[in-house]
Amino acid sequence: MTAKVHVDLPGRAYDIMIAPDLLVQAGDLIAPLGGRKNVCILTDENVAGLHLQALQDALRQAGIASEALALPPGEGTKCWAQLERSVEWLLSQKVERGDVVIAFGGGVIGDLAGFAAAILRRGVRFVQIPTSLLAQVDSSVGGKTGINSPSGKNLIGAFHQPSLVLADTALLGTLTSRDFLAGYGEVVKYGLLGDADFFEWLEAEGPALAAGDTDARVRAVTRSCQMKADIVQRDETEQGDRALLNLGHTFCHALEAATGYSDRLLHGEGVAIGCALAFELSARMGLCSQEEPSRVRAHLRDMGMKVDMADIAGDLPDAEGLLALMGQDKKVLDGKLRFVLARAIGDAFMTGDVPSDMVLGVLNDALAQR
Ligand code: GLY
Repeated sequence: MTAKVHVDLPGRAYDIMIAPDLLVQAGDLIAPLGGRKNVCILTDENVAGLHLQALQDALRQAGIASEALALPPGEGTKCWAQLERSVEWLLSQKVERGDVVIAFGGGVIGDLAGFAAAILRRGVRFVQIPTSLLAQVDSSVGGKTGINSPSGKNLIGAFHQPSLVLADTALLGTLTSRDFLAGYGEVVKYGLLGDADFFEWLEAEGPALAAGDTDARVRAVTRSCQMKADIVQRDETEQGDRALLNLGHTFCHALEAATGYSDRLLHGEGVAIGCALAFELSARMGLCSQEEPSRVRAHLRDMGMKVDMADIAGDLPDAEGLLALMGQDKKVLDGKLRFVLARAIGDAFMTGDVPSDMVLGVLNDALAQR
C-alpha cells in the first residue's frame, strides 16, 4: 500500500509517494508527467553504485531511456563547480523545457539537482527520488534548492518545487546506522515542533523503526512529509510558519560551523542536539516545564543518538564563540535573539525575545559537561 501526501500549491501542486520498493515503479509513475521518453538523472557515486541500475531498468520498462551523471558524494559537491558541471551536462544532453530531470540521492543531490533544474532554460521540471531518511522527510519536500558558498551554507538557491517525490523506504536499508539516525533527528523534530502524539508514538516505535520495521518507517516518513506539506502550503517562502522547521537549527548551525561541516557532526545529529538545547532554553525561560527537555533527551538517548555537546568529539569554541557562530549576532536587537522555542512538546513557536545571556547560560552549562 502506497501512502500519498499531496502538496497543494497553486500551479505547482505535486504528490509525495511513500512505500517500500517504489523504485521498480519509477518509470510508470514518472511517465504520466509527459516530456520526451528520455530523462537525465543526477546522482552521486555511492547511490549510483547501489541503486542506479534498478532505476534505469524501471524507467526502461516504461519505455523511458535515461542518461546519468554521478557526482562525488558529500557536502562539498554543493558548490559552483559541480553546479556548472551538472548544468553543462544537462545542456549537452539537450534537455528541453518540457523534459523532466531526476534527482536521485540524498540532500546534497536533491538540493543541487533541484537548483540546476530551476535555472536550466529558466526552469525545467524535476522529480525527487530521495535515498536518505533526511532527504525523504525534509530536503526533497518543499522546493528549497541550492548550493553552498564559501560565505555559508545554502546561500545560493531558488524555490523550485518538484513535480513528484518518490520516497522508497526500502532504500533506507542500505544506510549506515549513523546516517539513518541522523535523518531520524529530523523526524523527531516534527513531533517536537507540532505533534505531541507523533512524538509519543516515536517514543514507543522509534526502536522498531530504526531496526527496520517497514510499516513504522512508512508511517514516520508519511507523517513527517504531511507536516512539512501543511507548513509549506501555509508559507512556501518562509515569511512566517515555515521558520518552525528550523527548530534546533540555530544551535545546530553553530555546532556544524564549529566542527567544520565535517563528519564530526552530521546535520541531523546537530538538529537533534539543537532540539534538546532549544527545549532546555525554553524551560529556563519558564516557557515549558523542566520535564520537557528531560523527555526529549531521554528519547534521543534511547535511540542511541548524540544528545549533548559532550557527544561531539574534539574541541569546540567557548560559549561566546558558539554564540557568534549562530549567525544570529547581526540580528541581535537590544541583546535579544530570534529562536524557535517551545511551550511544550508539540507546541513550538518563533520568538525574537530571547536574551543572549540566557543562550550563553545554556551553552556554558552544556560545555561544562564535556
Ligand atoms: N528544511 C527546512 C525547510 O525546508 O524549510
